[in-house]
Amino acid sequence: MEKLEWHVIPILPTADAEIKKIKVAGKTICLVRSQGKWQAVGNRCPHAGADLSQGWCEGNNIVCPFHRHKFDLQTGKGDVGQGNFIPTYPLKEEDGQLYVAIRKPWWKTLFSG
Ligand code: FES
Repeated sequence: MEKLEWHVIPILPTADAEIKKIKVAGKTICLVRSQGKWQAVGNRCPHAGADLSQGWCEGNNIVCPFHRHKFDLQTGKGDVGQGNFIPTYPLKEEDGQLYVAIRKPWWKTLFSG
């Protein structure tokens, strides 16, 4: 069973940034502000490894800068016909801080509780 670990996002995004690449707990995450809301997804495009933080938003999708695959920011699902997806990470705001949740693998849960 997976467990969520919450991490403070080290560099708070600036108000005008729409997409920002951050590193948290050894993972590279793409932080996206879309439709007034922050969302966190994996930064590596599953098609050929492009840096999604160099892409752009279209509605509730992030678009890869290389070959324009689109991914839903909430579910991570690729557009129809792509057959791929990116991971998504829950976010929460508490006491003016932004936190991102990283899933702790079951085997780490087993050994550290
Ligand atoms: S690397 Fe992202 S669509 Fe090809």
